[in-house]
Amino acid sequence: MMKTLVVFLSLTILSFGGAHAATMSFKNNCPYTVWPGTLTSDQKPQLSTTGFELASQASFSLDTPVPWNGRFWARTGCSTDASGKFVCATADCASGQVTCNGAGAIPPATLAEFNIPAGGGQDFYDVSLVDGFNLPMSVTPQPQGGTGDCKTATCPANVNAVCPSELQKKGSDGSVVACLSACAQFGDPKYCCTPPQETKEKCPPTNYSQIFHDKCPDAYSYAYDDNQGLFTCSGGPNYLMTFCPS
Ligand SMILES: *[C@@H]1O[C@H](CO)[C@@H](O)[C@H](O)[C@H]1NC(C)=O
Repeated sequence: MMKTLVVFLSLTILSFGGAHAATMSFKNNCPYTVWPGTLTSDQKPQLSTTGFELASQASFSLDTPVPWNGRFWARTGCSTDASGKFVCATADCASGQVTCNGAGAIPPATLAEFNIPAGGGQDFYDVSLVDGFNLPMSVTPQPQGGTGDCKTATCPANVNAVCPSELQKKGSDGSVVACLSACAQFGDPKYCCTPPQETKEKCPPTNYSQIFHDKCPDAYSYAYDDNQGLFTCSGGPNYLMTFCPS
């Protein structure tokens, strides 16, 4: 009798947990290999993988628990150096391994950010260039389960091609591999929206954030991007992250 009850309760908990997972799929449309990284926020346990290789045209998927706060990005130009350390030209997490193990991307990095509440409430997600840009990326809610706006958050353009020289991050061959945010490069409150310009009213767009915004109007170009880059979807959708979406 007791055993039956225990089994019943575990099954109930398991199916409840299962119904509240979000499946995150990744597709690499870039003509080169990327190495996505995953980071769970709030000191919560990390996902089943914190970093993996994704060849051109390859796909991968993993589940997040719900609620979940965290981010995804993709490293480029990675290789194992002479000392056996895994290093990347952009968005490295400095773990020395393909997995990031709780470390985040070193800017500049295009980020996909998620805030998924418990119980199928309203998800918030965005593509952020607040920490700079390294490759084009989109986040698309998948049809099953999603209700409400559920639009694609995206930075489909190659911002590296229009990156002003003072923000360029160059690779070993001299090509522009990423574009720093003006905040990261200059540390000025007017670019970082830090005191004395810490409010939205006191931190309007700048000539630099405008470059990101013009290329990618459906992404966050700086900290107070008038919520243009913030998207919502309700009802527990799954999501597709595409690298080089167009
Ligand atoms: C942006 O404005 C600053 C002055 O506020 C100027 O020094 C800089 O050259 C400008 N950069 C671009 C890319 O327009």
